[in-house]
Parts: sequence; structure tokens; C-alpha cells
Amino acid sequence: MHQYFFIKTYGCQMNEYDSEKLNDLLEFNGFKASNNFEDSDIAILNTCHIREKASEKLYSDLGRLSIFKENKKKIGKNMQIIVTGCVAQAEGDEIIKRNKNVDYILGPQNFHKLPGVLKNKKTQKVHSEFSYKQKFDSLVPSAKKNVSKLVTIQEGCDKFCSFCVVPYTRGAEFSRPVEQIFAEIKHLSNNGAKEVTLLGQNVSSYNSEIFEDGVKKKVSLGYLCSIITKINGLKRIRYLTSHPNDIDQNLINEHKENSKMMPFLHLPVQAGSNKILKNMNRKHTREFYLRLIKKIKENVADMAFSSDFIVGYPEETDSDFQETLDLIEKVKFASSYSFKYSARPGTPASIKKIQVSEEVSNKRLEKIQAVLNQYQTQFNLSFLNKTVEVLFSGVGRKNNQFVGRTPHLQPVHVTSNLNIIGKLLKVKLLRLTAFSFHGKLVE
Ligand code: SAH
Ligand code: SF4
Ligand code: F3S
Repeated sequence: MHQYFFIKTYGCQMNEYDSEKLNDLLEFNGFKASNNFEDSDIAILNTCHIREKASEKLYSDLGRLSIFKENKKKIGKNMQIIVTGCVAQAEGDEIIKRNKNVDYILGPQNFHKLPGVLKNKKTQKVHSEFSYKQKFDSLVPSAKKNVSKLVTIQEGCDKFCSFCVVPYTRGAEFSRPVEQIFAEIKHLSNNGAKEVTLLGQNVSSYNSEIFEDGVKKKVSLGYLCSIITKINGLKRIRYLTSHPNDIDQNLINEHKENSKMMPFLHLPVQAGSNKILKNMNRKHTREFYLRLIKKIKENVADMAFSSDFIVGYPEETDSDFQETLDLIEKVKFASSYSFKYSARPGTPASIKKIQVSEEVSNKRLEKIQAVLNQYQTQFNLSFLNKTVEVLFSGVGRKNNQFVGRTPHLQPVHVTSNLNIIGKLLKVKLLRLTAFSFHGKLVE
């Protein structure tokens, strides 16, 4: 009898990657994927701890799953509940204490242990070691074929921004070996992948080494990109997320010389005031950030930027916030994410005395989103009637409709009688709606 599992994923792309790898690993071990919790013997919640709202989702879902599990018990059936991911790492013991229906807790560097834990009915309930190497060594080749794939190349974070839980939930930085990354991407490419997004919470500080002609060489992100570029079938390379302090000339040169490097850089700045940046322990100033943007643009003319912003950080005044708006005006981001500051347990920012009121934070969030949207629209409008290359990765909702992305990650819809999934085609962009471009294929 097969046991069925279902994974619900919260949070960032690193969690998405982990869920896919966990899925592959469970299937490899004889478990079967199901489409929902109702038909599952094993319910897995792969959680995110970044903001309070994200963590809360786990607890509300756990409540519902618990009732479901107890009802199943009444008819003689069982369902195991597993919590993985960043909340598992941060609050594993509390979760077990609060909810007796949870069977196992596995942090982000432990999910590879799940098949063994399930098969051997392990007594240890909480697994929170930082076993990076063992994890990556245990992963099996991906079974799911997609045009665009995520590949984690680096785990953890050594930056310790004052507001952030990631260094605690994912641990210290760890870079995967070049050979392992190359083999994984080669496999994906053989299975039809045309684009890869290299992942790390601090991907631009990727740091490894290889032997070339008997000589040991350091491998930074730029160099790694030049190595995986040699995979013929691979057409596009992206990476996420970069810290401004780690963008080196090597990486910029790679963008300049390698046409597979997409001209779109997610480079979170968080805030525009030096006082707040200092309090955040970001270790860079607004001037440094603006100079970096200028330097990259001088080297790579068509590079577009996106960022993350936090509003309502402790001690943020109106004039600090104004400086953030001013920085946005200077950079004119192509897109961005903005968040209301959320105090996270165990972080230095959470014990700051002067917290910004909910009301003020809400107002600032509304304002920043309006401004960011305006620049996003402005950026997109500048592409109307232009012809760009689109990599098609899926179907749209309408008949014969296909969806793809431009080099700048803008979604594009076209109609075609032929199946164009996996193809890189020239498209003239004719119309812009709230969520996407609509265009026509150019012969
Ligand atoms: N490693 C990346 C992203 C980390 S998490 C980086 O350094 O940029 C993604 C985003 O969540 C962050 O960029 C930040 O904007 C936001 N974030 C992190 N902690 C937060 C908190 N406590 N409250 C609100 N937003 C937060
Ligand atoms: Fe968090 Fe800062 Fe590390 Fe990004 S760089 S993961 S925001 S601590
Ligand atoms: Fe969330 Fe962990 Fe990613 S806290 S944002 S799932 S690294």
C-alpha cells in the first residue's frame, strides 16, 4: 500500500525549491504525491517565519489539520502531520508542545531526513541540525520538467540585518560545490529547462572553489555563471537575492559579456535613510547603493532593478521615510516588494523602544506602494510597441494562449496555433494590462 503525501509551501523561492526536492525525495522512496490534504496520509507544511503574518498561517492551518486528523482517527484512519521550513527551525519545540497532533518537525537543513524518519518511525520528533552538506548530498534528480527552474546554490546568511530571522532559521552561509550545481542544472537542461534561477538568501556572496588544469581556483557567483553558461540547452540565467555589498566587478563583467545573463537585478535596499540603514545593520549607505546602481548601469545599459522595502522600522521618522521615497525616485525601480515592519522574536530590532504606530506604518505602506506602482507602470509602458525575446513556459487561460517572460521578467501573453512552450521567440508588445503584456509573435 502506498502512502500519499501533500506539501503546502509558504514563503520564498528557497522554500519552493525545498518543497520540490522533498517531493522528489519522497517519491524516490516510494511515497506518492496527492493533490490535497484530504487524500493524504502525510500532511507537510513547509513554513515561513519572515513576518508575523507568515508564521500565523502555520498555526491556523495546523488547527484545521488537527481537527481533520482527529476525525480521521474516529474512523480508524491516521494522518501524520509534519512541519518543515523556517518556523519549524525557529519554534520547533513550541509547536510540538502546543499541538500534540504534530508528528515531526524538520528545519530547512533537515527535510532530507523525512523519508528515513517516516519509515523507521523515529522517536526524535524535532530535527534542527544545520546539516547542509548531508542535505544536498541526499537530494535526488528532479522529476518535474519545467522550462524555468529554481536551483539553490547557497544556504543561510551571515549578514544579520537587525530585523531578520533568516540567519537563525537557515543558519550560517554554505555554498554548494560547483560540480554538484553543474550536474543538477545539466540534468534540468536535459529535461527541457531553458532558464535557471540560482537561489540563495545572499546569492551574490556565493563562494566555492574548483580545480582547473590542476590549479585550485576560487569561484564567485560571476564565475559560476560563466561555468554553467557552457550548458548548451540553457538559454537564460538569473539569480536571487543579492546584497548590495557583495556585487563584485566579476559579476558585472559577466552581465556585460554573457548574453545568457538576464538584465534584471533584484537588489534590496530596504530603506533610503542612512540612519535607518545603520539601525538595520545593512552595512551600506544610500550613497553607496546609488553609486552601485550607477556603476552597473554604466556597464550594462539595459539593466533594470527591483528591490524590497520595509516601512515603519523602529525610529523611522517622516523625514527618514521621505528619503526612501527620494531614493525610489532616483532609481526608478522596474518592480518592488514593500512590507510593513514586523517585529520578530529574537531579533535585535524587536527590542527597540521606539516602535512606529500601526496607523503611521499603514499610511507609509500605502504611499510607498503607490509610488512603486507608478514607476513599475512607467517602466512597462516604455516597452509598448517594442519587440523583445520571450521565453514561453506555460499556457494561458484562453484557447491557444501562451505565457512567457521577457528578459526583464515581465509576463507576456500571446496566441499561437502551435505549441510554443520552451521556445524563445520574438514578440511585439502591443498592450499592457494590470498584470501582463499582450503581444504578437514576430516571424
Ligand atoms: N536575503 C534577502 C531577502 C530576505 S527576506 C535580502 O537580504 O534582501 C525578504 C524580504 O523580507 C527582505 O528583503 C525584507 O524586505 C523583508 N523582511 C525581512 N524581515 C522582515 C521583517 N521583520 N519585517 C518586515 N519585512 C521583513
Ligand atoms: Fe535577512 Fe539581511 Fe540576511 Fe537578507 S541579508 S537574509 S535581510 S539578514
Ligand atoms: Fe521565509 Fe525562511 Fe524564506 S523565513 S522568506 S521561508 S528563508
